[in-house]
Amino acid sequence: MAITVDNDLVHFEPPAHPTFRAAFHNFIESYPRSLYEDRGLLRYRTRFLDSVLVSEPELIHDILVTRAELFRRDDLARQLLSPMLGTTSMFMAEGADWRWQRRALAAAFRPDKVLALVPIISATAARQVDRWRMAPRDVAIDVAESMAKTTFEIIADTVLGAAPLKVETIANALTIDLASVPWRFILATFHAPSWVPYPGRWRAARARDQIYREAARLVAQRRQRPSSRVDLLDLLLQARDEETGRVMNDEELVRNLVTFMLAGHETTAVALTWTLWLLAKYPDVQDQVAAEVQATIGNKTVEPQHVERLTFTRQVLQEAMRLYPPAPAISRQPLVPLVLGGEQLTPATQVTITIYPLHRNRRFWKNPNSFDPDRFAGEHTRERPRCSYLPFGAGPRICIGASFAMIEATVVLALLVHAFRFRPVVGHRPHPIARVTLRPRGGMPLYIEPRFSTR
Ligand code: HEM
Repeated sequence: MAITVDNDLVHFEPPAHPTFRAAFHNFIESYPRSLYEDRGLLRYRTRFLDSVLVSEPELIHDILVTRAELFRRDDLARQLLSPMLGTTSMFMAEGADWRWQRRALAAAFRPDKVLALVPIISATAARQVDRWRMAPRDVAIDVAESMAKTTFEIIADTVLGAAPLKVETIANALTIDLASVPWRFILATFHAPSWVPYPGRWRAARARDQIYREAARLVAQRRQRPSSRVDLLDLLLQARDEETGRVMNDEELVRNLVTFMLAGHETTAVALTWTLWLLAKYPDVQDQVAAEVQATIGNKTVEPQHVERLTFTRQVLQEAMRLYPPAPAISRQPLVPLVLGGEQLTPATQVTITIYPLHRNRRFWKNPNSFDPDRFAGEHTRERPRCSYLPFGAGPRICIGASFAMIEATVVLALLVHAFRFRPVVGHRPHPIARVTLRPRGGMPLYIEPRFSTR
């Protein structure tokens, strides 16, 4: 495949300096050019903020792995996410409060446990295939919306044990809450008190109430009626700290459920959405995926033993997450004064690991603005420094659902490309918008037609 810069994959000109306006509208657009080219550490201070942007693999390793114990989730992320995730969920908790939850839930996310869920994932993907088969031809379909629905159904079926959920209600409520993130960002930056009103505030609060009510209903139901198979909800209910005997109270249970609903579907949906667009843009790569899937599963569905063999399909997903990392930044704050890359940081310094520029830095990626799944072929991955590719983060707080997400996305992508051919809408150029996750602005319309040629 030709490796050339594709201007369609360059969506904005990085500024010379970070600007607040860009940070408000779309925070990846505020990351300056130097983070894409030079040694990636940039300090800037305003009256309200002392901030360090980091896209240097060695320093990232230092923050997330070597000295992970000396950093915590930053105040900005807390203020943005705590209305939804609370302060006690595994995502938000710190120290011992975090450790016992992580230990208790890690077993549920081991690759062997996730592989056992492949039949459920395949069945859900098949339902999406059926929905698209019924859709009118020659009308572009918003695959972003479809992927959000599919990944939500998968999380509901696999992780929450098919507990009856109002899938659309919850998915819509999550979208409404995310829409108010830029305002929460502005208020958090200026240290505004929590009662300050902003556009969409009450709508977002109502949406969150809806989600909590649904999560609380699930917990109450499960306490009364245990499920026939062990799922994450059971593990949450059974989780017990070996040292202290502590179990989760209802607030912790509900917050964790909401965490898994949000963290477990939105990011994977975004990864699949960008992947489908890239495949629509590069039909040769799409055909290569279809050929691999056909050779692996024939005319059947994806089963656990197939996943390992879908190597190129996985590489395509990895490359899509390089260009469009679903979580485009990770942030921290030091617990104590410390020196990072020669900069003296205080506990008030906000440290942002800027994944988006890291993944397009020409020091680690040849022709970074090109789509080349072969970068992730075994021999090439060894050439790059550690912590230069971080869709799931690194260190003790690395995404607990990473294996789940990769297996899920591989199975779904394989079945979709096996059934359909995707074509871009001429003249439509998607634009990535960073609002916690990296969604395409206004959705992702694509033409979808049945694929017959490989059958
Ligand atoms: C493509 C899909 C996904 C991406 C790109 C992704 C990305 C991430 C990243 C970057 C972090 C680390 C944040 C940090 O260090 O501050 C994280 C943490 C987390 N993710 Fe994911 N994630 C994905 C899917 C999932 C799934 C499927 C689940 C659960 C079913 C999940 C649950 C979590 C949780 C609970 C944490 C917090 C872990 C902790 O703090 O110990 N994620 N994710």
